Amino acid sequence: MVGQETLERQRHWERVADHWTIPRDHFLIQQEDDITLAQIRHSLSPYTKKMRQSSGRVLDIGSGGLPTLYLPKDVLPRLVALDISRKALSVNLAAYKIVADIREGELPIQDGKISTASMFFVNRYVEDQDQLLEEVDRILEPGGRLVCMDYTTIGYMQECAQFNPYRLRSVLEELGWTQLQVAQVTSPSFKPRELAEDSYTIKGAILLLTGKKPQ
Ligand SMILES: C[S@@+](CC[C@H](N)C(=O)[O-])C[C@H]1O[C@@H](n2cnc3c(N)ncnc32)[C@H](O)[C@@H]1O
Repeated sequence: MVGQETLERQRHWERVADHWTIPRDHFLIQQEDDITLAQIRHSLSPYTKKMRQSSGRVLDIGSGGLPTLYLPKDVLPRLVALDISRKALSVNLAAYKIVADIREGELPIQDGKISTASMFFVNRYVEDQDQLLEEVDRILEPGGRLVCMDYTTIGYMQECAQFNPYRLRSVLEELGWTQLQVAQVTSPSFKPRELAEDSYTIKGAILLLTGKKPQ
């Protein structure tokens, strides 16, 4: 049984997904200056390289329509895309698709089935990110990896939670994770600002959290 809040969030993301059928190869995360898709891909490249080298399943959480913005195309045959919006997933090229609300607690995936979990610009929609990472720990195989990236503070058409990768890193440390790193993706000259016409309020930098579950 789907709760009222999940239904409302689903409706919101179905409307947003209408815009995602537009090809975004020329896409700039922020049009004026700070960061291009190429910069994001560059920051992710050591981790996407490891994804390509492994043969296991990759789970993209809050995948939206176009995970190939960040993930290599040759991962698609073993990519599982999970999103609250069925419409967003309808244009997603992943081999497997799951409609689920990540705020609802348990992810509908068995223990240890995933080799890499990725999350791009989705942490902000989850109040209890500690619990989500505990779920990620459960579904990852021993030695599995997490790659997650978001703005530390942003508003996007709705109230958003903080993304604090330093705190999340300590949650994973307690679970025995290794190779934990937080890196800044936006340049130090990044300037917070409001883009009222887009309903965006950008107040924080983009940070990347990566780590490895124990073997
Ligand atoms: C800003 S978009 C990012 C999409 C994609 N990862 C990207 O970076 O292009 C946020 C995505 O998270 C999904 N999402 C938001 N809240 C969610 C929830 N509670 N459960 C699952 N997916 C959710 C939305 O449908 C949307 O596809």
